[in-house]
Amino acid sequence: MTNNNNDKFKSKLGIVAATAGSAVGLGNLWGFSYKAGTNGGGNFVLLYLFSVLFIGIPVMLTEFVIGREGKGGPVGSIENIEGSKKSPFVIGGYFGALCTFLILSFYSVIAGWSLSYLVDGLIHGFSQFATIDSAEYFTSISGQLGLQVVCQGIFVLLTVCVVMFGIQNGIEKISKIMMPLLFAIILLLVLYNLTLPGFSESVDFLFMPSAFPEGESFFTIFPAALGQAFFSLSLGMGAIITYARAVDDSENINTITAQVAFCDTLIALLAGLAIFPIIFTAGLDAAAGPGLAFVALPVGFAQMPFGYLFGNLFFLLLVVAALTSSISMLENTLTLILENFKFNRRVATMLLGVVVFFFGLLSQAGFNYSSSILQLVTGATGFLDQLDAFTMYYLIPLGALIFTIFVGYRMKPETIKKQINNDTISKIFIPYVKYIIPILILIIFISGLLSK
Ligand code: TRP
Repeated sequence: MTNNNNDKFKSKLGIVAATAGSAVGLGNLWGFSYKAGTNGGGNFVLLYLFSVLFIGIPVMLTEFVIGREGKGGPVGSIENIEGSKKSPFVIGGYFGALCTFLILSFYSVIAGWSLSYLVDGLIHGFSQFATIDSAEYFTSISGQLGLQVVCQGIFVLLTVCVVMFGIQNGIEKISKIMMPLLFAIILLLVLYNLTLPGFSESVDFLFMPSAFPEGESFFTIFPAALGQAFFSLSLGMGAIITYARAVDDSENINTITAQVAFCDTLIALLAGLAIFPIIFTAGLDAAAGPGLAFVALPVGFAQMPFGYLFGNLFFLLLVVAALTSSISMLENTLTLILENFKFNRRVATMLLGVVVFFFGLLSQAGFNYSSSILQLVTGATGFLDQLDAFTMYYLIPLGALIFTIFVGYRMKPETIKKQINNDTISKIFIPYVKYIIPILILIIFISGLLSK
C-alpha cells in the first residue's frame, strides 16, 4: 500500500471530526429517535447511556489500539500485529469489512429518502403535510423506483467522490466543514423546540425511567440499547481501526475516544430533543417506528412557523450526517481491497461504489412493490430490515467480541500499554477488556437471541 502523507490525518481536530463524523449519522438522528420511541423512552435511553459508557467506550479504545498498532484496515492490522495472515482473529476483520459493505448498501437507500425529502421540501415546502396523509406520502415517495434509484445513486456518488481523495484531502477536509454545520443545525432545531409546549414532555419521556412497552422486558430492551450504542459509535466492524491507522503515534487515543463518544452521545440526545417536542406538540405517535423522522416530522414542520426553513434544515442535516458516516464505511471496506490487490485508490473506490450501488438495489426493492421480480428475491419482510437486523444483532456484536478477545488475550500487555500511554488507564483497561467486556457482550448477545 502506498504510504504517503495523504494516508494520515493532519490534525487532532481532523481526527476527532472524521471519527465523530463516522459515528454521528442516521443512527443518531433517525435510528435513535425511532428506537427510543418504540422502546418506551427513558429506560431505553438509560440502558443506551450505560452501554456507551461501560461497553462502547472501552470497545472503541480497543479498536484504536488495534488500528494504530497494526497500521492497517480491520484485516491488515490484525495480520500485521500477528505477523501472519493465518491468525484466526482475522475473521473478525473480514466480518467487519463485510458488515460496512452491507450497512452502506441500505444506508444509501435511507440517505436517498432524505435527499428526496430535501429536494421535494425545497420545491414544495411542508405545508402540504397539513392536509395529506404523511404515511401515504412516505410510501409513495419511497416507492418511486426511478426517483429513489437516482437519489441513492447520487448519494453513493458523493461518498465515492470524497473517499477517492484519500484520508487527508478527502475525508478530513470534508468532516471539518460538515461536523460544525451539523452541530449548528441541530442546535438551532433544539433551541426552537424550547418554545414548544411538547418540550418538557419530551424531556420526561427521554430521561425519566419508564415502563417497558408491552411484550418487552429488560432482556429485550438491553440488547436493543447495546446494539444501538455499537451501531451509533461505528463499533464492531473495524471502521475505527481503519481511521486509527491514520492517527499519528504522538496523539492521545484516550482523549480522542472520550471526545468522539461524547460528541456522538450528545448528538443522539440532542436529536431526541429536536424530534420529540415536535411529535408531542403535534399530538403524533412517538412509537410510530422506523418512519418516525420521515412520517411524523413533516407534519410538525407543516404546523410550525418557519416550517420551510426548519424542515429543509432537518433533511439537509440527515444527508450531511449520513455522508460523513458513509465515507467511513466505504473507506473501511476499501482498505481491505487496497491491502490485497494492486488497485489504484481511485479506480478501486469507483468500482466498489458501483458494487455497493447495485447491491443496494435489493434494499430499494423492498419499498418498490412495483418491481415484482426483485420483490421475489428479497422476500416479504423487506431486505433492508433484514440486513439491518442481521448486522445489528449478529455481525456487530460478534466483531466487537473478536476484537476485544484479540486485545485482551492475544496482544502483549506491553504493546497495549505503549498505545494507551497512561498507567492508570492501562491498569483498568487491560483486565476490563479481558474479563468484563467479552462476558457482557456474550450475555447480552445470548439474551437477545433467546428472546427472539
Ligand atoms: N455510526 C453510524 C450512525 O450512527 C452508522 C455506522 C455503523 C457506521 N457502522 C459504521 C458508520 C461504520 C461508519 C462506519 O449512523
